[in-house]
Amino acid sequence: MTSLTGQSHRILSGMRPTGRLHLGHYHGVLKNWVKLQHEYECFLFVADWHALTTEYETPGVIAASVWDMVIDWLAAGINPKQARVFIQSQVPEHAELHLLLSMMTPLSWLERVPTYKDQQEKLKEKDLATYGFLGYPLLQSADILAYKAGQVPVGEDQVAHVELTREVARRFNHLYGKEPDFKDKAEQASTRLGKKNAKQYKELRRQYQETGNIEALEKGRALLEANQNLTLADRERLYGYLEGSGKIIFPEPQALLTAASKMPGLDGQKMSKSYGNTLALRDTAEDIEKKVRTMPTDPARVRRTDAGNPEKCPVWEFHKVYSDESTRDWVTQGCRDAGIGCLECKQPVIDAVQKELQPMREKAAEYEQNPGLVRSIVQEGNEAARAVAKETLQEVRQAMGLEYR
Ligand code: TRP
Ligand code: SF4
Repeated sequence: MTSLTGQSHRILSGMRPTGRLHLGHYHGVLKNWVKLQHEYECFLFVADWHALTTEYETPGVIAASVWDMVIDWLAAGINPKQARVFIQSQVPEHAELHLLLSMMTPLSWLERVPTYKDQQEKLKEKDLATYGFLGYPLLQSADILAYKAGQVPVGEDQVAHVELTREVARRFNHLYGKEPDFKDKAEQASTRLGKKNAKQYKELRRQYQETGNIEALEKGRALLEANQNLTLADRERLYGYLEGSGKIIFPEPQALLTAASKMPGLDGQKMSKSYGNTLALRDTAEDIEKKVRTMPTDPARVRRTDAGNPEKCPVWEFHKVYSDESTRDWVTQGCRDAGIGCLECKQPVIDAVQKELQPMREKAAEYEQNPGLVRSIVQEGNEAARAVAKETLQEVRQAMGLEYR
């Protein structure tokens, strides 16, 4: 069952700083973040510690990418007035929470995360038989739980990490969610709902606990959700008491699946730096023009008069992303009967990519000329993030009995 404790409006997501961003990042992740920032409270961070789990031998690449990545985010439309942008290592609470969670996380949970073996296989040239690499999904859990994020926008490959986070949250709540005087405190808290609401809360709780009526549970949650003048601690007690378990310290986050990126690379494989088939967000207009003009097409079209098949051509994949139906009809027809040449066919793609990237280039140039502004945006983000994470850690320490006075 899902536990939401009124924090479900908060979103957290991170990206590893390992080089300039390209259209694959934009269509796969960034565009979605830009949309979400209008709908949710977003915390977006540079996952520099995550990058270290694989780049620890050459950490220079991380430092070299951090600010560029932030500039790419801002250029792509992340608005620092709406979303918080910060750097993971500037919020040391992530590390503290990771450590505390590591005490109660069974080793087998980490060993069975699919990315563990997959990545070791894939990145054979690196020695990933490290403690940090095994623990990295738990670091991700700490990232998420430090903000009690309700939703985590991720790609398919990261769903298992959110699932692990849910299990860790559940286990933590189970182990440490019990306060000695929990029942009294919860009863006390319910009086703060006001007489009418308190009565309704009690009734819904009874219905749920006696008959397992899920509707009553949901109504109870909605009632708490609507009640904005509770303290955080009281709110969590009341959510926990409603379910009967104890205090819910960590809500269970949900993966918010981004529609799998269909963004192809110049050679038809997935767009990725390691394949050398990218269009970078800050490529110049000349770069873009040249890269698209020289990208491969259906090999059957040796001469202009040879007919081709769009299904065998990476350019067609770009038309699927960028072109409207009439252009796509023009391509299919013209390719199959050799009515158009490949350069002609590429032109609408070039135009569409330029149109998409031009405003980003301009914005990026502004930020490049004003590094102080970028620093201060991140500084503010760090502080805002830290304020939230600190509050969570205080609660965590208290629940675990680590608050010595
Ligand atoms: N692990 C993610 C990746 O490699 C990045 C990441 C780190 C992240 N922490 C996160 C994503 C928390 C979402 C939420 O892409
Ligand atoms: Fe590819 Fe277009 Fe050339 Fe056909 S006409 S092979 S779709 S570039």
